[in-house]
Amino acid sequence: MNTPATSPSFPLIQSDVELQGRNTLALPCKAAFFTELTHPEQLPHLRTAPEIARRQRFVLGGGSNLVLPREFPGLVIAVALKGRTLAGSDDAAHFVTAAAGENWHDFVLWTLENGMPGLENLLLIPGSVGAAPIQNIGAYGLEVGDMFEALDAYDFLAGKMRRFTAKECAFGYRESLFKREGWHLEGRFLITAVTFRIPKKWQPRPGYGDLMAELAQCGIATPTPEQIAEAVMRLRRQKLPDPAHLPNAGSFFQNPVVSAEFAAALGKAHPGLPRYPQADGQVKLAAGWLIEQAGWKGRNLGPVGMYERQALILVNRGGATQEEVRVLSRVIREAVLARFGINLIPEPVFCVLRTAICPDDSPKNPG
Ligand code: EPU
Repeated sequence: MNTPATSPSFPLIQSDVELQGRNTLALPCKAAFFTELTHPEQLPHLRTAPEIARRQRFVLGGGSNLVLPREFPGLVIAVALKGRTLAGSDDAAHFVTAAAGENWHDFVLWTLENGMPGLENLLLIPGSVGAAPIQNIGAYGLEVGDMFEALDAYDFLAGKMRRFTAKECAFGYRESLFKREGWHLEGRFLITAVTFRIPKKWQPRPGYGDLMAELAQCGIATPTPEQIAEAVMRLRRQKLPDPAHLPNAGSFFQNPVVSAEFAAALGKAHPGLPRYPQADGQVKLAAGWLIEQAGWKGRNLGPVGMYERQALILVNRGGATQEEVRVLSRVIREAVLARFGINLIPEPVFCVLRTAICPDDSPKNPG
């Protein structure tokens, strides 16, 4: 079904569109219906057009945190809303708004170029601005939720826009209200724009082992935003494969958070265990370390494998499908559970038919 042409209020809806080039794991996926959202005014049409109104919806951002199936029988909405602006400022902060379809890395560079440092620890994270708050992206001691003011989203159920404050988003480690309630995954809300609150008084946040070591190696004791930006980009390029060359979805599992007692006992049995105490008394462990110790660093299973320089990254070495990713994910989880008694939770969204869920049917971790 093709509507005649795209316009600010009527999007072009295409049939049988291949999405392999739109997900960073490069999994083949044929969408029964597909549209590129270029104007928010197109949203009511997508809600009511009779051919698509009752079909399952899936909102696609940069496709960097997704495990797509071979076929998706519903409507995929690729968010291509563009624009970024200094929306205002007060004594303490700049308020910057970016449309959901902006590339995340380019947006952070733009804030730096315009004299608003603060987000530099999050450079080179793949994906779009609209996807960033959904899983509260984070790296090197900073999470999006730390500099978030509000987001605007279209509610397909109510047929109107809604604003969410930081508090309402309920950010946690790789978590937000959108993920927890399944709203995003069920295609209820489509995020159109995000507003960040960037403090005017810049403070470095190098408080993360790897980043501190990288700066120290360059003889930098009091870094500038530019020096942190360069160090972050160097680190990411060393450890994380570029999806254009080796398809991947970033970290494939969350770092597990366990009780202090469990972490202490595990640390006794495994003296090298990296441990990161959390504010609530629990301890975060390094999933990459656990996977490496379980023997999976650099190892393949069919066309998929765990990256040789960072065991937490699942890579597609060519020709993989969702099923093969699912099998490797299960094998890794079983290996880590058997060796350490820890259940790893996948980080990317497994898009499945009827509903899109992250399959977590196994027991919670001790703690
Ligand atoms: N480690 C190993 N072997 C490995 C990988 C890691 O021993 O193969 C050890 C490291 O030596 C280190 C610890 O595990 O002691 C942590 O590793 P790293 O600093 O590389 O970070 P991470 O915990 O594996 C997290 C985020 C990344 C983010 C980095 C840097 C999660 C799930 N991942 O990885 O985020 O870039 O910290 O801040 O929290 C992403 O979410 O897609 C992502 C890339």
